[in-house]
Amino acid sequence: MSTKVVLISGDGIGPEVAVATRKVLDATGVDIEWIERHAGEAALRAGEKELLPASTLDMIAECGVALKGPCTTPIGSGFRSVNVLLRKTLDLYAAVRPVRNMHGVKTRYDNVDIVIVRENTEGLYVGIENQLTPQVATSIKLTTEAASRRIAAFAFRYARERGRKKVSVFHKANIMKLTDGMFIRCAREVHDAEFADVVYEEMIIDAACMRMVQDPSRFDVILAENLYGDIMSDLCAGLVGGLGVTPGSNIGEKGAVFEAVHGSAPDIAGKGIANPLALIMSGVMMLNWMTQTRGDAKFAAAATRIKRAYDSALDAGERTGDLGGSLSTMGFADALIARL
Ligand code: NAI
Repeated sequence: MSTKVVLISGDGIGPEVAVATRKVLDATGVDIEWIERHAGEAALRAGEKELLPASTLDMIAECGVALKGPCTTPIGSGFRSVNVLLRKTLDLYAAVRPVRNMHGVKTRYDNVDIVIVRENTEGLYVGIENQLTPQVATSIKLTTEAASRRIAAFAFRYARERGRKKVSVFHKANIMKLTDGMFIRCAREVHDAEFADVVYEEMIIDAACMRMVQDPSRFDVILAENLYGDIMSDLCAGLVGGLGVTPGSNIGEKGAVFEAVHGSAPDIAGKGIANPLALIMSGVMMLNWMTQTRGDAKFAAAATRIKRAYDSALDAGERTGDLGGSLSTMGFADALIARL
């Protein structure tokens, strides 16, 4: 029986990398029934009134899983970010973003193997902003104990289940004493009560950035609230070859949406040169998650084959322009398929 997965191509380079990813996943023989739905500017172009139509949300809720390309949120148009809204509405509270050195991709750093666990529903991203006077605006940072405890428990559990040793919490509680203060207090309490076997450390975000670029190998799992996790994700992507190689997932109790860290990359959209690997790797994460949650080993087996294919392709110098190669988006996907 086939497994239903919602496919949202998104905007900009989204459709290019989505079609390449779908082709690679299908080539493994896993029987996925892709159900295409719109989000982002693509939804408006398709005649929807919202960037995130109810039909898209309903289908993700029904299937419990989606693979999503990046969506453009028009700046200053009155629309809320599709991504923020999607994560909030479906309560996809944990963003999990692994960052590792890639085979054959030389960067300034070796031994990078970090997983960022980002709180996905609160912080400044709740978008509560007020124009007090024409010259003065505010933005409210929301932090709750419930969400802080939930994401902390997720990060510690993730670390324990995967044999990782340390969770570092990034914060600015010296300045934001109530909000970030609550975030780290909850993390500390959850750690001490249930996860004392995992090494725990707290680090002020500015110092953490400095240490990260000095020696990323000292970090293992990073726990952060929404904004810090977002910024840290791109910073860490830069350590291992850029946004073309950093996958991600948004996990909730009732389902998950898998998407690359990168955005819609308008500067290269339509040229057929975007690196599809970040979304392909997100697809690999999705297949592993499907085995974990649905107990069917065939998905993880397909994930392993794709991973071997891209490791060996990169080793052989088969890559897109962002990694110094010359393959097109689909050329890279085809190179992987030839190696499956
Ligand atoms: P971006 O990630 O789209 O692009 C940053 C830079 O990285 C650009 O130079 C781009 O060409 C490059 N890049 C990104 N992905 C690449 C890939 N797969 N292969 C090769 N090069 C790649 O970030 P930017 O420019 O800040 O945002 C553009 C739009 O994307 C905005 O509307 C933003 O709101 C949206 N966005 C959406 C996200 C999502 O849907 N999850 C996440 C981040 C941004």
